[in-house]
Amino acid sequence: MIVSAGTFDPTWEFMHSFDPTWESVHRSREWARELEYWFLDVLRRRFDGQVTIKLAGQDVLDLGCGGGAIAATLAAAKLRVHAIDGSEAAVSLTRRRLAEAGLTADVRVLDAAHILESFGPESMDWVIDNACLQCCTPEAQRDIVSQIRRVLRPGGWVYSRLVGAGSWGDGLGRRIAGGCYADIPEGPAAGMGTTTFLDRDAVLALWDWLEFCGNRIVQDHRMVSEDTYSAPADPTGLRPERGGAQRWWMEWIVEGRKRADG
Ligand SMILES: C[S@@+](CC[C@H](N)C(=O)[O-])C[C@H]1O[C@@H](n2cnc3c(N)ncnc32)[C@H](O)[C@@H]1O
Repeated sequence: MIVSAGTFDPTWEFMHSFDPTWESVHRSREWARELEYWFLDVLRRRFDGQVTIKLAGQDVLDLGCGGGAIAATLAAAKLRVHAIDGSEAAVSLTRRRLAEAGLTADVRVLDAAHILESFGPESMDWVIDNACLQCCTPEAQRDIVSQIRRVLRPGGWVYSRLVGAGSWGDGLGRRIAGGCYADIPEGPAAGMGTTTFLDRDAVLALWDWLEFCGNRIVQDHRMVSEDTYSAPADPTGLRPERGGAQRWWMEWIVEGRKRADG
């Protein structure tokens, strides 16, 4: 579904899976723009330790591209990049980021719940979800992940970063569904709209068709400072570290592939 500039209204209903809070976030500050070279290494070793000889020319779908850092990195490595975001401001930023670097990509304002109808079955070699699905309800996550399965070519690869249950913010704010909250008042998810916190079983259930390989599902534990992440009252969302109390934050890094017969 396309959102045009004239239709933006912070009180609108969800297009389907996109929380319009993100439009406000992207209009109020510039999302990360640095090239994410580490990400190429993630793809090159293809999660199973084997070095991929050739990424160039492969189709990659970047879900929720934000400021375009990953999209630009992948385009620089000559992958055929298809980047989507529900936020018009994010898409503008990504387009600008690419243009400034002299790179080209297919960048669209799109709700992630519409990828199948937009790109078609078996159109992608890679689908990258760097913290987009975490912004969706569990129901929307299941829908989008089933579309990812269809959109991937046989043997195609997935990278997904999801938030772990029990991380700072889990259980706070307005409960939407099990593990899913909006209006979280504090922590890294504050001011970011809907966030779904998943335990390991929920991650395994979500990606049950995926053949995990290499690192399988990686738990990335981190302590974050109360001073770094503030309540939404801070318009930047990020403040310099001042050594405050440490809070727990955990992410699941899912790396795997669609089976050749999947
Ligand atoms: C946490 S940010 C991550 C941005 C980027 N992937 C990065 O790593 O910097 C999540 C992004 O996903 C987008 N997003 C969230 N839910 C979405 C949805 N259902 N459809 C499309 N985009 C979505 C947001 O607008 C935001 O840009």
